Amino acid sequence: MSDARLNPEAPPSPEHALVRRQDYRPPDWWVSDVALDVDLDPAATRVRSVLKVERNGSHDRTIRLSGDGLRPLAVTVDGQEARWTMEGGDLVVAVSGNTAEIATEVVIAPAENSQLIGLYASGGLLCTQCEAEGFRRITFHPDRPDVLSVYRVRMTADKVRYPVLLANGNPVASGDLEGGRHWTEWHDPFPKPSYLFAMVAGDLEVLRDTFTTMNGREVELGIWVRAKDLPKTHHAMASLKQAMAWDEQVYGREYDLDRFNIVAVDDFNFGAMENKGLNIFNSRYVLADTETATDADFDAIAGVVAHEYFHNWSGNRVTCRDWFQLSLKEGFTVFRDQSFSADIGSEAVKRIDDVRLLRAVQFPEDSGPLAHPVRPDSYLEIGNFYTATIYNKGAELIRMMRTMMGAEAFRRGTDLYFDRHDGEAATCDDFVAAMEEASGLDLGQFKLWYEQAGTPQVAARVEPEDGGVTLHLSQSVPPTPDQPVKQPMVVPLRTRLIDVDGSGGEERLIVLDRAEHSVRIDGASDSALLSINRGFSAPVALTVERRPGELESLATSDDDPFARYEALQELAYRVLVGGGAPDPLVEAIGATLRSNALDSAFKGEALTLPSEAMVAERFDRADPDAIHATREALRRAIGTALGNELAEAQAATSTGSDLSPQAKGVRRLRTIALSLLSAGDPDRGAALAKAQYDQADNMTDRQGALAVLSMLDAPSREEAFADFYRRYREDSLVIDKWFALQASAPRSDALDMVEALRGHADFTMKNPNRLRALAGGLAANHWRFHSPDGRGYQMLADFVIEADSINPQVAARLVPPLGRWRRLEQGRSSLMKAELERIVAAPGLSKDTFEQASKSLA
Ligand code: TRP
Ligand code: ZN
Repeated sequence: MSDARLNPEAPPSPEHALVRRQDYRPPDWWVSDVALDVDLDPAATRVRSVLKVERNGSHDRTIRLSGDGLRPLAVTVDGQEARWTMEGGDLVVAVSGNTAEIATEVVIAPAENSQLIGLYASGGLLCTQCEAEGFRRITFHPDRPDVLSVYRVRMTADKVRYPVLLANGNPVASGDLEGGRHWTEWHDPFPKPSYLFAMVAGDLEVLRDTFTTMNGREVELGIWVRAKDLPKTHHAMASLKQAMAWDEQVYGREYDLDRFNIVAVDDFNFGAMENKGLNIFNSRYVLADTETATDADFDAIAGVVAHEYFHNWSGNRVTCRDWFQLSLKEGFTVFRDQSFSADIGSEAVKRIDDVRLLRAVQFPEDSGPLAHPVRPDSYLEIGNFYTATIYNKGAELIRMMRTMMGAEAFRRGTDLYFDRHDGEAATCDDFVAAMEEASGLDLGQFKLWYEQAGTPQVAARVEPEDGGVTLHLSQSVPPTPDQPVKQPMVVPLRTRLIDVDGSGGEERLIVLDRAEHSVRIDGASDSALLSINRGFSAPVALTVERRPGELESLATSDDDPFARYEALQELAYRVLVGGGAPDPLVEAIGATLRSNALDSAFKGEALTLPSEAMVAERFDRADPDAIHATREALRRAIGTALGNELAEAQAATSTGSDLSPQAKGVRRLRTIALSLLSAGDPDRGAALAKAQYDQADNMTDRQGALAVLSMLDAPSREEAFADFYRRYREDSLVIDKWFALQASAPRSDALDMVEALRGHADFTMKNPNRLRALAGGLAANHWRFHSPDGRGYQMLADFVIEADSINPQVAARLVPPLGRWRRLEQGRSSLMKAELERIVAAPGLSKDTFEQASKSLA
């Protein structure tokens, strides 16, 4: 074969090459059709592919088909032996005409694929994960999102081991073969990029249902799982149908194929994947019943099912031109799933939870060495850019545009965007252009949000003047890697001046778009309270100059639930960062608990103190021991002062099978109250926690009680953990909770426990959920992870290095906690840095982990 090679001297493509947004060029060749013939076997799967290619424009360039770990067994062009060469992993083929059929054949080994990208084995199934660049591990293909093709797939497999054969689109034919094998052929009529390709083979059972679309078409729905899991699929199915109806009502988007299938797999790198007509899910986002899943799990399932379903329009029908546009689909789709969850649950609580996540994950990312714009400029490994910035900050950008233009113009904008770009690969600029046209707004300066990394710092101050007040605003955007100097952003601030009696001015939208800006507000009294960035209308870090007593008043009277929650948080920071006395906060929390006007869910949010990690973010150089001690002292003060109110909240119960927002709120408040109460009176807390654990008829109460026990030194703690393990040892998703709870327990022996669990028979690095439960639990344990002797850092680095040889994508995502080294006091700082250096020096390190660790050192 080598004499047929073209340019055998060509150097392999450099392995750690930076990919730049500015280098984007349209593809040299289109691929109109892909025909795959896949003979499935865990040890040796034969993949034959026929690509119909067409030259794009007039040029004489070869066609480059990306490959990762593939060896071509045969390559033909229009049935003739081809002239080809390998460059790195890629297959480069010479084609003389303007169109051709390129056929290739490879053999791959899914059972050996521990990266879980491409075709791999999970719990007896064979399944695929192709986003972002996994299709090239299955067959040679351009494998870039701006090349859209119609796919036809013939799957052949052993009928006993793999009775169910699924792929995108519709099944068109099937049959039996000799030797106990069978085949099914699938056809997907919608042209799609290769990252949306999917295939699943296995012994699966299905929960079926139907959905009738707004135009009266009946869609067959299926959720495919292993037989034992079938009873746990009903919530996911109900969520799917709700999401389908919601996308019709709110965005006018109808489903397009005749079937929609979801498959749950146990080994999965992320949450789920929106493959056209065949979503593949991490089983933790499908399977639930009240015995084994918490309310938070139920909510997460609804949110992720909706997210992946919504991608059918925001991602699949309109896809991304290149991976720098990732937020085009992810930011928009997160915004859509957030809105959906707000509509089916409590809007206020959903917003508070989303902002808490943004601040806990995205703000630190944006202020650290891995900061990047919502539309990045370069990457080594695209798998590292599935970040909170792309997803959650990206969603905030969509939300701000909607806030500025109003709901109706926003809907006209999304209609225009979907109509104009249906069937295309689009850019973030295309999205903004549709929004501008539909609203008449000039979003030129707003687009800086896509370009500039870093969280804008905004300061606000009110100055009384006769007959009104003046609101003085200023902003600055901190420097981030490769972006030393920033321009002022467009910051939409929903603002209201509230008179002390609760009356007062209307809410107005103030758009800060300069470095400094003063707004005169007539008719406001000089004692009015400043309620600003209501609903968290802009993802900024806001500092407000407060008059004495102003926060206390806002904490009990602001009519915007988010702003009210915010006032309580700021009161807590005064204690935790400013060293203030706890009394004002304790009083405000007491008033919140006793209020008849507030629901339990909101009370639960109000009682949730800033985490130690969030408190650390407010220091230039944090001392984790001091932060832990101060926060524990505050919890003790609250628990002691409000013991009776907390006990009353803890005593309130709701039936485990009741999943209404009200019932969930009661349970949420219950465990938070238990936790504070235990801080004030550990003996009483331990007794109540043990009772809550034993009497629980649902996982929310049981896990909540166990989490409280994990902090205490009562004999019932060990009893409960042993009982929990015995009860659920067959249920891997619950055992993940058991690992995570112990790893993240704020107790002095936590690192010993992590070490012991590392050797537990149920621990494996091959399952990403299990690895994240233990290693992620350790990193989330702020106080112990930052043990002053550096042992926590060393353990995390050990996890990273060992996991990297199995699953680089998941290993790389464990690195960022070490990248906070500049923000810790000197001793810890140098220990963290040393561990990052050890990771970078590890032999055979993947590109994924190399990028994260080396950037973290900068
Ligand atoms: N597109 C998926 C989502 O957000 C994310 C995803 C799932 C993913 N699996 C992946 C991204 C593997 C990269 C690699 O819904
Ligand atoms: Zn997504």
